Amino acid sequence: MGNINPSVDLQYHNAGHIALVVMDNPPVNALKHELRAGIAEALAKAAADPAVEAVVLTGTGRFFSAGADITEFNQPRRSPTLHDVIAALDAMQKPVIAAINGQALGGGCELALGCHFRLASPHARLGLPEIKLGLLPGAGGTQRLPRLAGVERAVRMILSGEPISAQEALADGIVDAVLEGPFPDAAIAYAERVVAERQPLRRARDREDKIEAARRDPSVLDKAAAPYLRRARGEQAPEFALRAIRGAIEKPFDEGLQQEGQLFLELVQGEQSKARRHVFFAEREALKIPDMPKDVQPWPVTRAVVIGAGTMGGGIAMCFANVGIPVEVVESDQAALTRGLERIAENYRTSVSRGSLSAAEMDRRMQFISGTLDFGHVAEGDVVIEAVFEELDLKKRVFAELDRLAKPGALLATNTSTLDVNAIAAATKRPESVLGMHFFSPANVMRLLEIVRGKATSHQALATALAIGKQLGKVPVVVGVCDGFVGNRMLARRTTEAERLLLEGALPQEVDAVVYDFGFPMGPFAMSDLAGLDVGWRIRKARGVKAPVSDALCEAGRFGQKTGAGYYRYEGRTPVPDPEVERIIAEASARAGITRRKISSQEILERMIYPMINEGARILEEGIAMRPGDIDVVWVYGYGWPAWRGGPMFFADSVGLRQIRDRLKEYAERSGDPLLQPAPLLEKLVAENRGFGSLAPQRLAT
Ligand code: CAA
Ligand code: NAI
Repeated sequence: MGNINPSVDLQYHNAGHIALVVMDNPPVNALKHELRAGIAEALAKAAADPAVEAVVLTGTGRFFSAGADITEFNQPRRSPTLHDVIAALDAMQKPVIAAINGQALGGGCELALGCHFRLASPHARLGLPEIKLGLLPGAGGTQRLPRLAGVERAVRMILSGEPISAQEALADGIVDAVLEGPFPDAAIAYAERVVAERQPLRRARDREDKIEAARRDPSVLDKAAAPYLRRARGEQAPEFALRAIRGAIEKPFDEGLQQEGQLFLELVQGEQSKARRHVFFAEREALKIPDMPKDVQPWPVTRAVVIGAGTMGGGIAMCFANVGIPVEVVESDQAALTRGLERIAENYRTSVSRGSLSAAEMDRRMQFISGTLDFGHVAEGDVVIEAVFEELDLKKRVFAELDRLAKPGALLATNTSTLDVNAIAAATKRPESVLGMHFFSPANVMRLLEIVRGKATSHQALATALAIGKQLGKVPVVVGVCDGFVGNRMLARRTTEAERLLLEGALPQEVDAVVYDFGFPMGPFAMSDLAGLDVGWRIRKARGVKAPVSDALCEAGRFGQKTGAGYYRYEGRTPVPDPEVERIIAEASARAGITRRKISSQEILERMIYPMINEGARILEEGIAMRPGDIDVVWVYGYGWPAWRGGPMFFADSVGLRQIRDRLKEYAERSGDPLLQPAPLLEKLVAENRGFGSLAPQRLAT
C-alpha cells in the first residue's frame, strides 16, 4: 500500500536527497489513472521539497510498467493523462532517473524515455508493443526513441513490437547504464553520482544527432520500414506509426508530438485496434475455465514422451526441446524413427542456415530429444502425447498400453484431429487423465493448441495441459468433443462452400484472391494444395461423401504442391492458374447440370465467411466452446484469420448479425443445404438485438 495512494509510494533516501517513486499496481504496473495521478503527485512533492536533489522512478515485481491500462481505452480520458505525466517528468528541474527493474513496455517504456537518465537491471526488457494492439506509441515514443537510438532501431522496435534486452538497449544508447547491483539501491547510488557530479539533464527531446542522417536522406526511414509494411497488409497502425516517426525527423519536437497524439487517437477509436484488443483479452480469457476450482495445481512436467515420429510427433517433440524439457519419441518402426529424428535435425539445420538459430543452440535442443522403439519408456513421461496414425483401433490399443505402463498421474494426451477423445479415453482405466492436445501443423511453428476436454477429464489434467501449453509458448484453447473440434469443424463449412462456388462459376484464383484480400495469408485452394488434396479425398471416400471438383483433381493425380499440381499448377512453390483445372471444373459443373455464372467478390466473401460464423454459433449452442472469444482465438492463431479483424465471431458482431442471418437464409434456400440455415442461436441473438460479444462464458458440454 503506497503512501501517495494505493498504487504509488514515495520514499526518501540518503538523508532525504533522493526521492524514490515506486509504482505498485500488480500484476504488471499498468498505468491506470490512480497510478498516473500518484506519479504526478509524487513528482510535485519532490519538486517542491528543497532537500530533494534527484528523483528515481521504479516499479515493483517483474515490471517497471507494462504500459497503458488497456481496459481504459474504452473509457473517456482522465487527467492526468500519460502525456501529462511524461511532460511533468521531462520538465523537472531536478534529475529524474528511471530505474528499469524489469519489463518496460509501451507507455511504461515511454515513461522511462521521458526521464533524464535510464538505468536498467540486467534482466530488464524494453519494448513498444503497441503495434500488436493496432496502435502506435502515443506518449512520445515515436518522437523520443529515434532521437535516442536512431531511426533504424526505432523503426524496428515500433513496427515489430518486439522487446529488446537491457544489453541491447545499452548498446543502442536507450539506457545509460546496466547496473548489476540490487535494485533500487544501485540506482539510488547512481543518482547520488549524478547529483555530486552535477551532470546536466539529458532530455531526449533536445537530441538531434541521431536523426541527422535520416534528415539528410529520407529514404533511410522508408528502407527500414519496408519489410514491416509488407507483412502488415491491410493494417492501418504500421502506416500511422511510420508517419509519426517521419514527424520526428521532419518536425520540431512539439509538433511531432502533437501529430503522434492525433494519429494515436484515430487508431484507438478505430475498428482495427478494437479488434486487436479483443484478441489480446480473448487469448487471456481462454485460459480461464469457469468451473475450475481455485486450488487445483497442475502436475509438474519434467519429462515428456511423444508416441509416433511422423509429421506431428516430430514437431511436438521439437516444442518440448525448444523450451528445455527432455522428450523421448517412441516409435514402432525403426525406419520411421530414424527418418523422424533426421527430419527434426533437418528442421533445426534450416533455422541455423537462415540465421534464426545458432549452431550451439541447435545442439543444445537436439540433446533434449531421444528416440526409442521400447514402448516401456512411456513410464518415464509426466506427459505422454500420442501422435500415431489416425485410426481409432490403433489409438485405443496404444492407450490401453499406456494405461498399463504410464506412471500414475501422468497426463495422457492424443493429438487426434477427428476421432472421439471419449472413446480413446475409454480404452484406459484412468479416463480422468486423458484429453486431446490438438497441435496444428507444423507443430513447432503454429501457436494454436486446442485442448479437448473429454467427459471424464479431471480438472487437474486440464490445468496441466493448459500449463504445458503456456510453457511451450502455445496459445491454448479448451474445447469440447465433436467432429473436427472448433477449428476444423468451421473450416469444413468453408471448404464445402468453396467447392460449391467452383461448381457455380468461380475459379480457384478468384476465390483465393477474395480470401487473401480479406487478410488471410492464403485462400482455401492454395491452402488445400499445400496440405495435400489426398488427405481429404481419403476421408471423403471412407465417409462416402463426394466433392466433385476435388475428387476429379485427385483422380487426375493432382494432389497439390507435392505432386506439382492441384487447384493450380506449380512453378517451384508459386501457384499458377491452370486451364486444365478450368476444364475439369467446367466438366464437373456440366455433369451437375449447373449453368456457370459470374459470381461477385462480395458474394464470394460472404460465402467464405458467413457459413463459418453460423457453424461457430452452433458450436456455442452445443457447448463445444466456452466463449465466442475462444473461437476467435482459434481462428487467429490456427488459421491465419487477420488479427486486426478480431476473429470470426467478433467480425460477425461488427458486420451485424441480422445481415448475416438474412444472407445465410438466402444461400440456404438457393442451395438447399440445411447446414446454411441460420443456427438457432444466431436467430435468437438477432431477435434480441444482441451480438455474440454479449454472451456470458458457459461450461463445456462434455
Ligand atoms: N493493461 C491492462 N491489463 C493488462 C495489461 C495492460 N497493459 N497488460 C497485462 N494486463 C493484464 C492481463 O490482461 C492479465 O489479466 P488477467 O490475469 O486478469 O487475465 C494480467 O495483466 C497478466 O497478464 P499476462 O497473463 O499477459 O501475463 P504475462 O506475464 O504472460 O505477460 C505482459 C505480461 C508481457 C505484460 C503481457 O501481458 C502484455 O504483453 N501486455 C500488454 C503490454 C502492452 O501492449 N503494453 C502497451 C499498452 S498500449 C500503450 O501503452 C499505449 C501508449 O503508448 C500510451
Ligand atoms: P504420420 O503418418 O506422419 O506419423 C504417424 C507415425 O506414427 C508414423 O511414423 C508411424 O510409424 C507411427 N506409429 C504408428 N503406430 C505406432 C505405434 N503403435 N507406436 C508408435 N508409433 C507408431 O502422421 P501425422 O500426420 O504425424 O499424424 C499423427 C496424428 O496427428 C494423427 O492422429 C493425425 O490425425 C493428427 N494430426 C495431424 C495433423 C497433420 O497436419 N498432419 C494436424 C493435427 C493432428
